[in-house]
Amino acid sequence: MADENNSADENQSEQVSDTGHSWDGIRELNNPCPRWWLNSLYLSGLMVLIYLILYPSLPLINGSSKGLLGWTQMTEYKEDLAEIEARRAPFEKKFSAMTVPEVLADQEMLNYVTASSKVLFGDNCAACHGVGGQAVEGLAYPVLADDDWLYGGSTDQIMMSIANGRQGEMPAHEGSMTNDEVNQLTQFVIDSSNAVLNEAGKALYMEQGCYVCHGNDAKGITEIGSGDLTDKLWRFSGDFEEVRYTILHGVNDNSDPKTRQAIMPQWNEKLAVMLQAKANAIAENQDPRMLEWNKVFEGDETERLTESDIKKLTIYVHQLGGGQSLSQ
Ligand code: HEC
Ligand code: HEC
Repeated sequence: MADENNSADENQSEQVSDTGHSWDGIRELNNPCPRWWLNSLYLSGLMVLIYLILYPSLPLINGSSKGLLGWTQMTEYKEDLAEIEARRAPFEKKFSAMTVPEVLADQEMLNYVTASSKVLFGDNCAACHGVGGQAVEGLAYPVLADDDWLYGGSTDQIMMSIANGRQGEMPAHEGSMTNDEVNQLTQFVIDSSNAVLNEAGKALYMEQGCYVCHGNDAKGITEIGSGDLTDKLWRFSGDFEEVRYTILHGVNDNSDPKTRQAIMPQWNEKLAVMLQAKANAIAENQDPRMLEWNKVFEGDETERLTESDIKKLTIYVHQLGGGQSLSQ
């Protein structure tokens, strides 16, 4: 080490106490800490003490000291939750007493339902149907944000889709038709979507029994969700090979391992049974209000969503995609 440095150190060290330690000529001094630093140290010590007294802190044999404020994370959470619920309660009460058409006609209620359904939809439905019902193309989940419906877009039909789930079934035709026939039918489906007349194709369509499920006009049958083959909206794809694939392997036909899968899960079995009983009563000209729900329902109960949640989602989905008229 250079000599000048050593002498400078020596000059300074005259004013402060010396610890008496020295290594290789370097002496350890005993400078006091700066005032501002010490003050912050004392202050933080004080804060620790205050927190120790007010909040749960010291570990004891059974849990910890409680603190004067009686604060716990759980009570804070419960208080926040209670506050949110208190704000929602009047809406929820009003909502439960309203019918779906009444909610649709009440803008304030509609705003409330839309806001809370967004979360419900995100948690339970968006994984398949996409955010806001805009299903990702090519994944074979129907878009809910348009006015094209497989199973109908009235609120009753949408509610039934959600409560009971859906599973369209189309048999595989590989083996029961020649390659040529499959190609001809594929061409017929594509021509129909382009409004091109294909008489030979139409004859084959009738002969092969496609009309039983897709209708004489190929516009589909709502009860079985066969979809419209004459429009440009595709359930799977309008590509020649893809249409051909559907005809060959069908949909949800488990006898064919290559079949397309399209399963909408059931969310509330009890509600589904109730809705069916209601529809039957109406069909038989009975007053559905006279039904005794508890006697109608027997069997296992799947309730992955409550009736109230399904009612909200029905309204939400109906609003998403130009829903159809309210009564079937
Ligand atoms: C596991 C994937 C999946 C989930 C989760 C799911 N769906 Fe579906 N959903 C489907 C499929 C697949 C179909 C079409 C069924 C078919 O083709 O027969 C469908 C059909 C529907 C339909 C009928 C559409 C029409 O055009 O008639 C509605 C309405 C619907 N879903 C609403 C919902 C709602 C609301 C939720 C959330 C509670 C939900 N879905 C959750 C897969 C799903
Ligand atoms: C037993 C009833 C049934 C029969 C028979 C049937 N289909 Fe289907 N088909 C369906 C259903 C249901 C769907 C919709 C499945 C879904 O979305 O889950 C469908 C879907 C399709 C699709 C897909 C449409 C799209 O938008 O992607 C094509 C194409 C099709 N059918 C053509 C045919 C042809 C051609 C025949 C005659 C060889 C036929 N189907 C016979 C019930 C049937």
